[in-house]
Amino acid sequence: MGSMKVCIVGASGKLGRYMVQHALDRDYEVVGVCRERSVGKLEAFKGRITIIPGATNDREVIKKAVAGCDGVLTVLVPWGAQHYSSGTAQAVMDYANPEARLIFSCGWHISRDGKDVYPPSFQREEKLARWIGRLTRLVDIDDQVEACRRVFASDTRWTVVRGSDLEEGESQGLPVWSLHVGDPVLESNMTRRVDFALFMVEALENDELIHEAPAIVGCRTPSALAHAAGLDRRG
Ligand SMILES: NC(=O)c1ccc[n+]([C@@H]2O[C@H](COP(=O)([O-])OP(=O)(O)OC[C@H]3O[C@@H](n4cnc5c(N)ncnc54)[C@H](OP(=O)(O)O)[C@@H]3O)[C@@H](O)[C@H]2O)c1
Repeated sequence: MGSMKVCIVGASGKLGRYMVQHALDRDYEVVGVCRERSVGKLEAFKGRITIIPGATNDREVIKKAVAGCDGVLTVLVPWGAQHYSSGTAQAVMDYANPEARLIFSCGWHISRDGKDVYPPSFQREEKLARWIGRLTRLVDIDDQVEACRRVFASDTRWTVVRGSDLEEGESQGLPVWSLHVGDPVLESNMTRRVDFALFMVEALENDELIHEAPAIVGCRTPSALAHAAGLDRRG
């Protein structure tokens, strides 16, 4: 598919800008959605992408942005208390072409089937984030959970990519993934942000990931390397 057209919802964020770059590297036509005040953060891509400014939970904005797209990459952020994530996800599912590949980002804390096993430190952090969120109304993790619940229940061609803790730095290659947090391969809990974006963009053309919620980890982290070595030994 040489002339694929993709929409990136939340293009101005760190993850979003890496996805724009990976999409342009593949010669995809790119439409980016971001808040009006963040358009300047996409200056480096000027003339190479179409920008549609607006709130990502504004249904008219999304309708316009996803028109004619073969794929939609959506950054689900837990910001604000206006059902931002769930509103965004719903609009994407309602207006994207039914055949389009829809890729959503979230964190490990999202569970599809309740079979994820979280380390105690992770559970403490999530509790704290929810508590601060309720107090300040700046973060709404429950709304990101609701967004993903709706995606899991939909018959669109979706993938929900669940990111580990993130760090900056050069690409190390495509992250490895597993079905459940708690699987040994994921133990290192670290992915380069640029590679999280790479996984999202590669998922557009990987039909094996349709209706999956892969939890990812950097391919060069100790747990990923140990897992790969184990596979080698077993031949
Ligand atoms: N950070 C982590 O360690 C971590 C770990 C696991 C998973 N994740 C997942 O990774 C994805 C992106 O994370 P990231 O850390 O790389 O962030 P990021 O890409 O920098 O994204 C932040 C996004 O949130 C938007 N935003 C900020 N404040 C907002 C507000 N008040 N209302 C609406 N939108 C607002 C930003 O838009 P503007 O450009 O307009 O400001 C930007 O698009 C998310 O799906 C997240 O759940 C993150």
